[in-house]
Amino acid sequence: MALIPPDIIEDVRIQTDIVNLVGEYVKLEKKGRNYTGICPFHQERDPSFTVSPEKQIFYCFGCQAGGNAIKFLMLIENLTFVESVRRLANRAGIYFPDPEKFRDHKRAAREERAWKANAQAMEFYHHYLLNSPGAAQAREYLDGRGLSADIIKKFNIGYSPAAWDALLSYMAGLGYRPGELADYGLAVRDKGRTFDRFRNRIMFPVADAQGRVVAFGGRVLGQEKNQPKYLNTPETPFFNKSKVLFGLNLARQAIRQAGYAVIMEGYMDVVTAHQYGIYNVLASMGTSLTPDQGKILMRYTRDIYMAYDTDSAGVKAAARGLDILQQLGCRLKVISMPEGADPDDFIRENGVEGWREIIAGAETLLEFKLRLAQKGKADPVDVLAEVLPNLAEMKSDIELEEGVKLVASRLNLSWESVKGEIRRFKADQRKIRVKPDKIAKNTYNIIKSDHTGNAVSAAEIGLLRAVVENPERLDYFRSALGDDFFQEPLHRDLYQAIAGKIDRGEFDPPGLLDELEDRAAALLSRLVMEAADESNISPGRDTEKVVNDYINVIRKNLQAKKRMILLQELAQAEKNKDIELVKSILKKLQEIR
Ligand code: CTP
Ligand code: MN
Repeated sequence: MALIPPDIIEDVRIQTDIVNLVGEYVKLEKKGRNYTGICPFHQERDPSFTVSPEKQIFYCFGCQAGGNAIKFLMLIENLTFVESVRRLANRAGIYFPDPEKFRDHKRAAREERAWKANAQAMEFYHHYLLNSPGAAQAREYLDGRGLSADIIKKFNIGYSPAAWDALLSYMAGLGYRPGELADYGLAVRDKGRTFDRFRNRIMFPVADAQGRVVAFGGRVLGQEKNQPKYLNTPETPFFNKSKVLFGLNLARQAIRQAGYAVIMEGYMDVVTAHQYGIYNVLASMGTSLTPDQGKILMRYTRDIYMAYDTDSAGVKAAARGLDILQQLGCRLKVISMPEGADPDDFIRENGVEGWREIIAGAETLLEFKLRLAQKGKADPVDVLAEVLPNLAEMKSDIELEEGVKLVASRLNLSWESVKGEIRRFKADQRKIRVKPDKIAKNTYNIIKSDHTGNAVSAAEIGLLRAVVENPERLDYFRSALGDDFFQEPLHRDLYQAIAGKIDRGEFDPPGLLDELEDRAAALLSRLVMEAADESNISPGRDTEKVVNDYINVIRKNLQAKKRMILLQELAQAEKNKDIELVKSILKKLQEIR
């Protein structure tokens, strides 16, 4: 993680006008103090995307994307923070030094050491697989699975010895302490002992997009009972599973050339594809795709094919991943393998030719969802309901027209009735979507009318907004509620960040945004936007009366919780016949009243 000198970020922020910047991508119209337009981050008809020139913040009331100018460019161009600042600096004519110069040295050094340790472990496992008598069975196994010597080299596949300390002692010779190896996930600490995490397993090194070894997947030989088939490096400060795609480092160029990427489930699928000369492939390593993985992939292409097993778990994982990718704006196709086969099996059986055919015959997202829905449901109306969200998200008229035709013919419905259903669906959605001015005016009503725990959540948001609107209120809230009253972790985190800034006299929302994680940053953008809204001045919004209502909602909830705990303690004390304790708990309960 690189740290950019704060004064450069500051300069960039001062010199960049967010309305100008956003205007390069979105047609904006002035509405009161703000500008609004059609959100570039999700599909919509009515503008819910808002930019505040005063606050230099954008926020979409439809999809909750929000942030400052730096964030906007990150999202719209798929950039990292540093890249975004660099572009904005160039745009504003601000000198931007070489990123190497301001790397966070300490953290970078640790990270580099972790990569190095993993790379050395990879060499060890690989060498062991190729040369050791102890790995004869493993060599046989891989041979039996048809892996060539070349492909084993290309992926640096290895084998971990059947010993508790083979890697530990090898690495000790290179200067690594056991505790350190445990930090990197290569060893396991248990009751004061440290031993090799991977034993007796085929080792697949996992690299990040730059080719640095960040993790391993270890497969048991054949079918072993009482053992997970794969054992993976756990999440560590140096390895975040949800941000890595197996094979990406070897696929980047091929993806650009082919114009699309294929996501598979497992290590073996990707390895086999390579052996057959198919290089634009990646694996999500068994889990469904995460938004982070989707974003990384979209730096290379928007055209993504999913090749998952057709067993039900595989299909479900695929469907989840597809929704995530669609929300990010990918164009998706689904490759359905024959029953029970994964890409590894399929490619071996059908070769590159067969692979080309199955790619060419891949279904669009709509076709895939339609088929899934038709499998489980007989009534065409139910099936239609399943695919309406997909139809409603279609970007172009042509795409929509084709979608309508397809759905109508598969379900034996007229085009008109399908179109009518889409219209109705969209109208309902618009009703559900909360409009900016409505949020601003109705917070109070929302709190009053919602009898579930959401009243507390809404009150927490109300309090946060009240502080953003007027930081001097912070003391008042503290005296009323103390400092630790938030139920929702997101709200608590944001509150603490804001309060910390206010205490130091440095509260500046656009600046704070860069320090917050995505969800907190989006929430802060929303609060700033709502607080900046002119309609807020009108009565019924965060006036002192409304603010006091927020406080009361939160206080009541805190009391209810305390009571619950006391009642539980009371029951326990009664069971134990602890008369003194019972008395004192009863007294406390009285006090809460
Ligand atoms: N996986 C995992 N942990 C498991 C099982 C699976 O992490 N206990 C991940 C691995 O990344 C694996 C992928 O999910 O590659 C797919 O699992 P599976 O289809 O069972 O394995 P294959 O990759 O097909 O391996 P093989 O062909 O050797 O059975
Ligand atoms: Mn397999």
